[in-house]
Amino acid sequence: MDDDRLRKMDSIRRDFSVRSDDYDRDIVMTVPNYHKMLEAAVGSLPFEEDEPIKVIDLGTGTGSMAARVLQRFPRCRLTCVDMTKEMLDKAKARFNDRSDITYVERDFYELQLPEGCDAVVSSLALHHLMTGDDKQNFYEKVLRSLRLGGVFVNADAVLSADEWVEDLNKRKWVEFMRTNMSEQEVNAVLERHRREDSLPVFTDQLRWLTEVGFSKVDVIWKDHMGAVVWARR
Ligand SMILES: C[S@@+](CC[C@H](N)C(=O)[O-])C[C@H]1O[C@@H](n2cnc3c(N)ncnc32)[C@H](O)[C@@H]1O
Repeated sequence: MDDDRLRKMDSIRRDFSVRSDDYDRDIVMTVPNYHKMLEAAVGSLPFEEDEPIKVIDLGTGTGSMAARVLQRFPRCRLTCVDMTKEMLDKAKARFNDRSDITYVERDFYELQLPEGCDAVVSSLALHHLMTGDDKQNFYEKVLRSLRLGGVFVNADAVLSADEWVEDLNKRKWVEFMRTNMSEQEVNAVLERHRREDSLPVFTDQLRWLTEVGFSKVDVIWKDHMGAVVWARR
């Protein structure tokens, strides 16, 4: 990893580590329809509920997406990946009744993914990859980790290709946060967003998935900045 990436990922890791105690409370005040987005993502996994599917959750954090996967697929073989120890510790505590979950504390930039997975899922994490090339390369890594017919489901924030729509989406986001937080808190979120997040243009994301070799790409759910993108190997 080059120095810029190292510095940025270090700063993101530090930030999540200090925010880990408040994360579950804060995320629902910052991300509109957070629960709906995650439900849509997990609801789109095309498997029987009693199948022992092999699933990787990228950027597990405190485990909200992973919890939904485990609830819908109790027999799944789940691997949780996150670079922030304090966030992953919350997930471990949440799932302490399950000894069959694998935890990997690693940066996406240094991550080797196992092959033969049925599904790779992620929520609100991959926008931390810094450039379009980084994201496209990472999608290719995800593709290789899936078995033929396996799916990648990514619930994340995106940009619009159109400036007017992008302004509308940002306005809606800020309005939502203002219903939950003080102006100072909203500004702190926006400042962190400028510093840490590299959102992809939505339509670029769909194109990259096709270009790296996913055979079918679709959109399961979208609401302004939030999108659940679905791709089958
Ligand atoms: C906004 S949280 C999302 C957590 C959870 N998926 C959710 O939906 O609530 C983003 C998580 O991604 C992790 N993350 C960000 N960049 C990462 C990277 N480069 N490698 C591994 N994990 C990363 C952070 O540590 C954090 O726990």
